[in-house]
Amino acid sequence: YRRLRVALLGAGAVGSQVAALLRQHADELADRAGARLELVGIAVRNPDAPRDADLPRELFTTDAETLILGADIVIELMGGIEPARTSLLQAIGSGADVVTANKALLATHGPEIFEAADQVGAQVYYEAAAAGAIPIIRPLRDSLAGDRVQRIMGIVNGTTNYILDRMDTEGADFGEVLAQAQALGYAEADPTADIEGYDAAQKAAILASLAFHTSVPLEAVHREGITAIDKPMMDAARKAGYVIKLLAVCERVSNGSGEAISVRVYPALVPREHPLASVHGANNAVFVQAEAAGNLMFYGAGAGGVQTASAVLGDVVSAARRHIAGGVGVGESTRANLPILPIGHVTTQY
Ligand code: HSE
Repeated sequence: YRRLRVALLGAGAVGSQVAALLRQHADELADRAGARLELVGIAVRNPDAPRDADLPRELFTTDAETLILGADIVIELMGGIEPARTSLLQAIGSGADVVTANKALLATHGPEIFEAADQVGAQVYYEAAAAGAIPIIRPLRDSLAGDRVQRIMGIVNGTTNYILDRMDTEGADFGEVLAQAQALGYAEADPTADIEGYDAAQKAAILASLAFHTSVPLEAVHREGITAIDKPMMDAARKAGYVIKLLAVCERVSNGSGEAISVRVYPALVPREHPLASVHGANNAVFVQAEAAGNLMFYGAGAGGVQTASAVLGDVVSAARRHIAGGVGVGESTRANLPILPIGHVTTQY
């Protein structure tokens, strides 16, 4: 196989798992991608900081710029606007394809980054920027490109869903469950981003932009967090047959004679029988209503290092396939060549 040099920027909860999985599954990933994905370095602020995964010290550097210039694929998992923005633009400028999970950056500087990529024919992959492990970017961008999405209703923040769920099911205290969500690695570095709805608003801007083929700036997203939700509210909602969930709602609405888009994040009363009511813990779910397809529900882990690493690695494989095909995406791989068992040999446990 040809060798592709992969640079990683950031080694937090997600980054360290991405690095570990890239090394652990190197052979399998090479078969899938059609190229060996060699992790050539990890740029971090402090190479000696403790990590969630066991990684060789010599991979770490503080010199992001040199690392980027020598890479075919750059994975940006630093988070925040700067220096992530500068690094991503540098990577694009140097001809690399880029993978990022940076919702804050895409929700605020998306057009600038996509335009820079368009100019040089690079691709930006960001499946991990919304709803963690759940594949939702590609379905909205590609699979539903021939349909008309009418509405998206999503639980797109794991931390707040974890908090609201524990308050609802156990009567837990807001502060205590927030501390647990932080300890479990769900919350952002500054958990205000979660509980005040900023994180969900960033994801809503990204999803709405894809769903409605319109650039939705973060300022256009109405945002309310969950800090005003208390136990009496939870109890009242339950008695009336509802559960309180922080929802991101993105929809087409009529605006006089024309059509417009409304994007909002707020704690909503969800009827107990609605599919979104049964999303527990740090899981996320995205309920999509499309004109021809009808109702679709995407469900799974919305936060967590290794779970989100899955989405990042999928993007890395896509980037590698495109790279070796000379800028054109290639189809699915069947190289694993696994035996297929006849019916009757397997009992599925539900
Ligand atoms: N803090 C985010 C959440 C992480 O809780 O959903 C995933 O984006």
